[in-house]
Amino acid sequence: MTQAFRLFGDFAHRYDLHTPPDHYRDDHAFVLDEFRAAGARRILDVGCGTGVFVEKALTAGLDAHGIDAAPAMVAQAERRLGPGRAAVQAMEEIGGGPALDGICALSWVINYAANADAAIAILRRMYGVMAPGGRLLLQCAHAPNMRAAVFEDREPGADGTPDDVVFLFQFVPLGPDQVKARYVYAGKSAGELLWEEHALNIANAELLARLAGRVGFSGVRIYGSWRRDPLGGSVSAWVVADRGAAA
Ligand SMILES: C[S@@+](CC[C@H](N)C(=O)[O-])C[C@H]1O[C@@H](n2cnc3c(N)ncnc32)[C@H](O)[C@@H]1O
Repeated sequence: MTQAFRLFGDFAHRYDLHTPPDHYRDDHAFVLDEFRAAGARRILDVGCGTGVFVEKALTAGLDAHGIDAAPAMVAQAERRLGPGRAAVQAMEEIGGGPALDGICALSWVINYAANADAAIAILRRMYGVMAPGGRLLLQCAHAPNMRAAVFEDREPGADGTPDDVVFLFQFVPLGPDQVKARYVYAGKSAGELLWEEHALNIANAELLARLAGRVGFSGVRIYGSWRRDPLGGSVSAWVVADRGAAA
């Protein structure tokens, strides 16, 4: 990982508080549905964070593993999943191991690629570890639709105190494929306050889809959301592609 973030570091144990596992249930159901449609059995969740999706995939009967560049996030994933399911590995280092039937990267992991060249290299690695017929699902930020609005989530604290955790976020478009993401986390009863900015790159679903096509993925499609609607005004899109039979 080229950037180190406290949200994924010394605050990793707060991740599920400000971003509760249930928030993305529709996205998770969509990914499972796509994997099922592709006949996937062995899948990899890239940037698995605290392991929420890997757990759901295991429950759904898939042989699921996760990798993440942040050791503290992997530690949280291991608490959820037990040993052997999550590993510290950057997406820039994907390689080796048995062939995969599916790869997903949820909640804008791919946008931590340094630039388009880095994204192409990552996509090549993903292609290289997939079995023919495998399916790729990337959830990505889409800068052209971002308006720098400020959003606010309030969640219970660790002891259940209502509205104890406040999470503010803002996505500032810097161009057609770059975003400055600003996050503020406050844990009131714990006396914690953290703010930081993340540079999000390749933040354009159409660009990412073109790059996926360039490395050999076929049937590349873009959805505006888990509903499989067109891109429209979405700020968080899905790029779905298949690894065809020909290398
Ligand atoms: C917004 S979180 C999403 C976590 C998880 N996918 C989810 O949906 O809950 C982004 C994750 O990407 C990971 N990440 C960032 N850069 C990465 C990289 N180069 N390789 C692998 N993981 C990375 C971070 O450590 C963090 O866990």
